Amino acid sequence: MQYVLKIRRRTSSAAKPYWQRFVYETDLAGATVATALSALNDRNLLTDIDGSSCTRIAWDCGCLQKKCGACAMVICGSPALACNVRLAELKAKEITVEPLRKFPVVADLIVDRSILRENLQTIRAWLTADAPASEQKNDVLYEASRCLQCGCCLEICPNFSTEGKFFGMAAMAPTTRLLTALPKAEAKMLREQYRRHVYAGCGKSLACRNVCPAGIDIEKLLVNSNALAIWKKYR
Ligand code: SF4
Ligand code: SF4
Ligand code: FES
Repeated sequence: MQYVLKIRRRTSSAAKPYWQRFVYETDLAGATVATALSALNDRNLLTDIDGSSCTRIAWDCGCLQKKCGACAMVICGSPALACNVRLAELKAKEITVEPLRKFPVVADLIVDRSILRENLQTIRAWLTADAPASEQKNDVLYEASRCLQCGCCLEICPNFSTEGKFFGMAAMAPTTRLLTALPKAEAKMLREQYRRHVYAGCGKSLACRNVCPAGIDIEKLLVNSNALAIWKKYR
């Protein structure tokens, strides 16, 4: 099978972006975008579709198992993990591959997502007391723990920007864990941060649910956190 990958490239945030097309041939039925990017970079001489030599394509990966979130990018217009998207299933004449658009570009397909960590620091999303395990809470805790911090949900969210006060679902999932696990008295500050940085800015369209590569039940987590952080305090 032969595929054409059209990759948006850029040497830095300040540099002008440009598109470059590459031909990738494979017999692997399960070849993914990550497989193609690895194979292109493994060539002794990387050339584009016109035969011009090119620099290696900068992209990030860690696990190649849909577990680390490092390879998040925009593939054929949708945010996704490169190691989770099979080329054969795209049925596109040209497969467009771009960096996530809400974050500063470091190089080619690599973006700087340090704002995700900074947002969690603002919310103070860490344990401040013992959080005894409870069978009733395990479902929600497990669901929330599956967040990869990949940023795909932020790509599609109309309300998230790196400069804004709304931190999106990437902050909601870890916050949900703590709201659920911490004793009520210990979670007072967290409830306020949740209200300010998640609840107040979310339009609740759940567009983010459809792109989450971990398949997290975002609605379930939202319902749980809104109940714990917003509604119960008025009772
Ligand atoms: S529900 Fe809508 S506004 Fe809220 S995080 Fe998801 S996409 Fe953004
Ligand atoms: S909620 Fe889903 S899409 Fe958003 S950061 Fe977590 S794993 Fe990625
Ligand atoms: S490389 Fe880890 S999720 Fe793709």
